[in-house]
Amino acid sequence: MPATASDTPLRFAVFGHPVAHSLSPGIHASFARERSIRLDYTAIDAPPEAFPDLLARFAAEGGSGANITLPLKQQALAVCRSLGEHARRSGAVNTLTRRDDGWHGDNTDGRGLVRDLTERHGLDLRQRRSLLIGAGGAARGVAPALLDAGIGDLYVVNRTPDNTDALADALGEPARVHPRYFQDLAALGEFDLIVQATSAARGSGLPDLPMSLVGTRTAAVELNYGEVAIPFLAWSRAAGARHAIDGLGMLVEQAAESFHVWHGVRPQTDAVYATLRGRQATLVTAD
Ligand code: ATR
Repeated sequence: MPATASDTPLRFAVFGHPVAHSLSPGIHASFARERSIRLDYTAIDAPPEAFPDLLARFAAEGGSGANITLPLKQQALAVCRSLGEHARRSGAVNTLTRRDDGWHGDNTDGRGLVRDLTERHGLDLRQRRSLLIGAGGAARGVAPALLDAGIGDLYVVNRTPDNTDALADALGEPARVHPRYFQDLAALGEFDLIVQATSAARGSGLPDLPMSLVGTRTAAVELNYGEVAIPFLAWSRAAGARHAIDGLGMLVEQAAESFHVWHGVRPQTDAVYATLRGRQATLVTAD
């Protein structure tokens, strides 16, 4: 549904709670300028109990598409009339597109992460022995794309074992995906790729992780960015990781994937990424 310069701007929004800090409105505005597309993109604070009504009002007022962020990604699945493959496999939605019969749900987080790791950071993910920490919306969003990118075995650990098992079952690859307990970690050896996908640093703090998980070629990836990312990045550097990468690049790349879903064109991401990275100068990645 590309807009032309003479159209009324298409309306988009990011729904989350809290959402005031979201960088998505600025990112999409930059992409739109670069692509000469007129759009209006706002942030809508939606407590979970109010989300369905706020989304319905947004649709009634002409909303064309929405990004969904914490803590609504799994809830958003329920409002969708149809789902793209990544949303179905991950059980979480971060991109809604208004169609004639209702909302279509996609998940661009995993594709965004893989693009950031492979193209921006130059990592080869194929056959990488991988550890995913967490089994909530963020972990679910990235796991299918990591498997599609050709990683090797994927071990999953999470505070609540039932959620670990549910994620492993949903991924449907028992030969490659291995649920484990935190207390097993010390015996698992080194990983090529470690992805921190819990929200623990926003609450009581990161779970204890043995440094034996990290070897000299390990890429340690934190899906969060900003202050919340600091503890895991500091841990991974102290453990000797070759790369310590925060979620800022993934944020920009998942936005570009959403932009592509909505407008049919992919924006350039380097300038937006450089600007945002410059603003987070205290959080420069290690590689
Ligand atoms: P998100 O969408 O950010 O993934 P979520 O769906 O609420 O948010 O999931 C949060 C993730 O962080 C879960 O994996 C959660 O573990 P549980 O499944 O046991 O709830 C994890 N998490 C949150 N706080 C944590 C903590 N203090 N220690 C360890 N894991 C934590």
